[in-house]
Amino acid sequence: MSSPLIDADPRTVYLVDYQPYPFVLDQVHLTFRLAPRATRVLARLSFAPNPLRPGRHDLRLNGEKLTLISALVDGRKVVPAVDPEGLTIAAGDLPPGGFVLETEVEISPETNTALEGLYMSKGMYCTQCEAEGFRKITYYPDRPDVMARFFVRLEGAMPVLLSNGNMVAQGEGWAEWDDPWPKPAYLFALVAGDLVAHPDRFTTKSGREVALNIWVRPGDETRCAWGMQALKASMTWDEDVYGREYDLDIFNIVAVDDFNMGAMENKGLNIFNSKVVLASPDTATDDDFARIEAIIAHEYFHNWTGNRITCRDWFQLCLKEGLTVFRDQQFSGDMRSHAVKRIEDVLMLRARQFREDQGPLAHAVRPESFVEINNFYTATIYEKGAEIIGMLKRLVGDADYARALDLYFTRHDGQAATIEDWLKVFEDVTGRDLTQFKRWYSQAGTPRLGVHEAWAAGVGGGTYTLTFTQTNPPTPGQPDKEAKVIPIAVGLLNPNGDEVVPTTVLEMNKPVQSFQFTGLSARPIPSILRGFSAPVILERDVPQSERAFLLAHDTDPFNRWEAGRALAKDTLARMVTKGAEPAADLLEGMARLAFDDSVDPAFRALALRLPSDDDMAATLHSVGHVPDPLRIHAAKRDLGLALAKRLAAGLPQLEAACRTDGPFSPDAGPAGKRALRLAALSLLTRLDAGQAAKAAFAKASNMTESFGALSILLENGYGEEELATFGSRWAQDRLVMDKWFAVQVSMAAPDQAAATVDRLTRHPDFDMKNPNRFRAVLGALSANHAGFHHDSGAGYRVLADWLIRLDPLNPQTAARMSAAFETWPRYDADRQGMIRAALARILAAPGLSRDLSEMAGRMRGA
Ligand code: PHE
Ligand code: ZN
Repeated sequence: MSSPLIDADPRTVYLVDYQPYPFVLDQVHLTFRLAPRATRVLARLSFAPNPLRPGRHDLRLNGEKLTLISALVDGRKVVPAVDPEGLTIAAGDLPPGGFVLETEVEISPETNTALEGLYMSKGMYCTQCEAEGFRKITYYPDRPDVMARFFVRLEGAMPVLLSNGNMVAQGEGWAEWDDPWPKPAYLFALVAGDLVAHPDRFTTKSGREVALNIWVRPGDETRCAWGMQALKASMTWDEDVYGREYDLDIFNIVAVDDFNMGAMENKGLNIFNSKVVLASPDTATDDDFARIEAIIAHEYFHNWTGNRITCRDWFQLCLKEGLTVFRDQQFSGDMRSHAVKRIEDVLMLRARQFREDQGPLAHAVRPESFVEINNFYTATIYEKGAEIIGMLKRLVGDADYARALDLYFTRHDGQAATIEDWLKVFEDVTGRDLTQFKRWYSQAGTPRLGVHEAWAAGVGGGTYTLTFTQTNPPTPGQPDKEAKVIPIAVGLLNPNGDEVVPTTVLEMNKPVQSFQFTGLSARPIPSILRGFSAPVILERDVPQSERAFLLAHDTDPFNRWEAGRALAKDTLARMVTKGAEPAADLLEGMARLAFDDSVDPAFRALALRLPSDDDMAATLHSVGHVPDPLRIHAAKRDLGLALAKRLAAGLPQLEAACRTDGPFSPDAGPAGKRALRLAALSLLTRLDAGQAAKAAFAKASNMTESFGALSILLENGYGEEELATFGSRWAQDRLVMDKWFAVQVSMAAPDQAAATVDRLTRHPDFDMKNPNRFRAVLGALSANHAGFHHDSGAGYRVLADWLIRLDPLNPQTAARMSAAFETWPRYDADRQGMIRAALARILAAPGLSRDLSEMAGRMRGA
């Protein structure tokens, strides 16, 4: 997005246009008189001239969908010029120095289906202000570099009234909150409702007593314990690892059912999608528990990386998100297994970020223009943003990383900072010049790394040379790229499997570069890009025997897993394109690993998981094939069967050995065993007509087993009865029913997926206004690769229909889900034509939102 696209949307915002706001705002006083369709918001804003913008300026405030009741400047009535995006008071109508603006507006939370600003969810008031939702609450300079202290008074007949900061006073029907820490409006929050708390306490390192609460609707109190323990673990971890303490007397988390995203880091009042905070063993899977732990940590960590130090403008979004994702990944690794966590993170990076980076929606980690900022909460900003920080840490080393972070926190506390500020602390601490490294922020696209090896035997030992070639493919708006700095972690093994050169980081900064290893007794086997040390695609033709060797011997757990994955991909690719048989090397390697009790069960479970259909489609496309979704699906079924047959003798025993009895624990150990058990069960089901899975379902004592067995049954065309049992048992539980909806679509046979969506969207419990339920059905469709891309085009049509229907109600969620279409350039002309027709139909919808029109336009290549 670096060069403005031709015919740029007139609403485009550019990084180069940044200017400080002409006023500073030290104190904000808000009063809310809550009523479902007529909430009054009174705002008192104390402005002073900003010395960075000398001269007299008009006062421009953002405001959308507000009914202005009155406006006063220093107590005198004014009549501002109001337009659909805000209001303006001419410089001449303002006193020369500071002044106080008082406004009163009316808004309607109950009819706010966009879930942005102040809205209602199941009778409860709540807010979502990031990125630009505060302007739907009151007239305000809604930009992150305007930081102010907020005092909030809430009036409403609700038992619980919450806002940011510390509660200072309260009475029947009102409460007052004071937040001592200056913050941008996107971190504002209020919640009001009939809520109950799961309370706890935390004492910080320096002795501050903090009251902790997870607020939920009555009935959900029994599902808060895990989130609370994750919160306390996060607080301790941030003190121990980053030296960051909490800074208020109270920390509140609220669970809401209707929420567009996962969760939100509002100062002192985090708001969570109930799906990523509520958990009990019988309603949440091990994956849910792990995700909850990670997201609780993520939002908590934002208190420093995001709130105390925020972003100057939305182009700097990765400053808070990339860093906070990196921190939550470190935390989860510390709580669980670093190896398993890294593999999971890379799986997700490739599935979402690589996919984005190689398609029409590719954009830089720090974009230079956008139309709708909500469309930039992407895998690139978050996950690639985190990878960049991982690379930086690898390049400077742990000690300098820690020193740079200390400097970042002291130098920028209380500020709205930029990527330049961030890189400068690393430059100042290490003396390095990060100019070239910075290209990771400005250039989109996934670099490709070619490798050439040379071996020269010699008297005093041989010399092994690795020559790397990097190519940086063009992306929309960025035809030309320059070489990046790529940290390549390499280890060398000798032919008997011993490591002769331990992990070494090679720093590549040229288009082509060689590195030598001398004094070796034999030609080594290289293990390249250990730990996935850079977000690149390694292009290296490796004999299957070498992959099998690394699968057996690599000391780096990531690369050991990667070797198995690469073998599986090679095999699947040959099966799809040449009708080949599954490779024996792969089956043998998998068999050895599956039954190797010295290896962590969670790792074995991951190794047994086959590459996703979408991943195979991307892989085939990248080597010049046009992927056929149905053939990929069939090849995967064939490979699964071959694997099941090869492992058959040991499967029942493995399945039995991995049962976890006794009280449920969501910890990594037992969760890993359950994952391996389900992997075994899945293979077993290919051979026993569903016997073992049916038994496992019947005897399940937690959601992981119950839902795991159900999914396996449905994937293999069994399980109708179990599906019905599951559906009636959980009919009243919205979170579990989301799983019931999703699994039917994600496990539907390719020719049934669209019809299943059609049937489920007519179900009385399908509610398009609830993003979780909408995603459960329509998101599961795009996750069912062969179903979504079925020849009939029915998958494309049904998704387009529903996005067009959702857009007027909830543009943000409609836009996010439209990215299902981003992979169209991979496929054959028929599919391309059908997807382009779906995009054209979306673009032609009357009154289309800015959100969805930007997405569909970019995908179509506007
Ligand atoms: N800032 C939130 C997070 O990453 C995500 C979010 C963005 C939530 C926009 C709501 C709206 O934690
Ligand atoms: Zn975040």
